Amino acid sequence: MELTVVIPTFNEAPNVEELVRRIEAATQGVDAEILFVDDSKDDTPDVIRATATKHEIPVRLIHRETPVGGLSGAVIEGLTAGLGDISVVMDGDLQHRPETIPSMLEAARATGADIVVASRRVEGGSSDGLSNGLRRAVSKGSIKLTKALFPGKLNGTTDPMSGFFAVRRDTVDLSDLRPRGFKILLEILARKQHEVVEVPLVFEARQAGTSKADMKQGFALLRQLFDLRISKISGFAAIGAFGAVANLVILAVLTHWVGMANLPAAVIAGAVTILSNFLLQEKFVFHDRMAGGRSTWMRFVHSAGFNVVETAIRTAVLWLVTKDTDFNVVYVQAALLVVGFGLRFAYHSIVVYKQ
Ligand code: GDD
Ligand code: MN
Repeated sequence: MELTVVIPTFNEAPNVEELVRRIEAATQGVDAEILFVDDSKDDTPDVIRATATKHEIPVRLIHRETPVGGLSGAVIEGLTAGLGDISVVMDGDLQHRPETIPSMLEAARATGADIVVASRRVEGGSSDGLSNGLRRAVSKGSIKLTKALFPGKLNGTTDPMSGFFAVRRDTVDLSDLRPRGFKILLEILARKQHEVVEVPLVFEARQAGTSKADMKQGFALLRQLFDLRISKISGFAAIGAFGAVANLVILAVLTHWVGMANLPAAVIAGAVTILSNFLLQEKFVFHDRMAGGRSTWMRFVHSAGFNVVETAIRTAVLWLVTKDTDFNVVYVQAALLVVGFGLRFAYHSIVVYKQ
């Protein structure tokens, strides 16, 4: 069989009939099947079974009573069970047009690529179907952050968050993937180098039912990015921690042993740490991000500039939050340091080491 269309569904009953009809029409002449991986609590499985009897194209259903790994888990299960040489993964709410499938198949055949991504961010694609400006902004921002975190790794994909893609079954190592959250394509791309091509995706408005993307999914994405990038983030954190200790040691030496006044000692300690942190992060964390980006000097200016501004803002916030309340200053500072660290890492990934 040439093609399996894998469709994860969660309460999509009203969309099933039209979806199957349009996929069947779009895959005329292709040896294809549709495979629903369903975690619904409503009558979606019954609707799928009923629809299956009315169409020529084989429609299979895996209904999971105890769903594992949410949407990503469902997709992995579908990719594993699919019979086609190529699997197309798409949403079940008609935000992904079945009519795009032929161009994806064509691209896979013509180029022999491992993965075809239907992208909202290439000429001819759009994400106008995202329900509001906020979601569009979040989507754009998370793509930026993700791309910054995986330089050169996502094979130039413009839309690593897309839920509409084709994979050649024998090139993707399914056992390697960790099912979590919504972004299974990102997981596939980040794990291994693949040859990727893209076709335009016009992301439609949802046909019926409601989106399952929410704050929880947002956190799941952050968590996924964190897990996939743990070595970079922890390296960056280790350098930050080392810098803080170095700062204290220098301060102690200058004031106690050299007999310097507090203020100039603090300034020297600060300057030395800023410089050493910069050199360490250049050498050990972002060494793969030098080519084609900013000059060393500009990287330094951005990096040190961020640190100075962040420290100033953090101190001001600390003062504002604690001045008329009885919050414990140490706890507040600890919380601010964590937030500051996250922002610093994001700023360095996206801005300082922009390529
Ligand atoms: N089996 C299963 N289990 N399916 C699920 C689950 C689950 O836990 N959660 C969601 N789905 C199904 C939905 O039924 C739908 O077919 C598809 O996954 C996408 O879910 P939506 O709730 O419609 O998500 P969305 O439109 O907000 O997000 C889509 O767009 C994103 C890009 O903006 C998805 O395509 C994402 O993968 C994509 O990143
Ligand atoms: Mn949707």
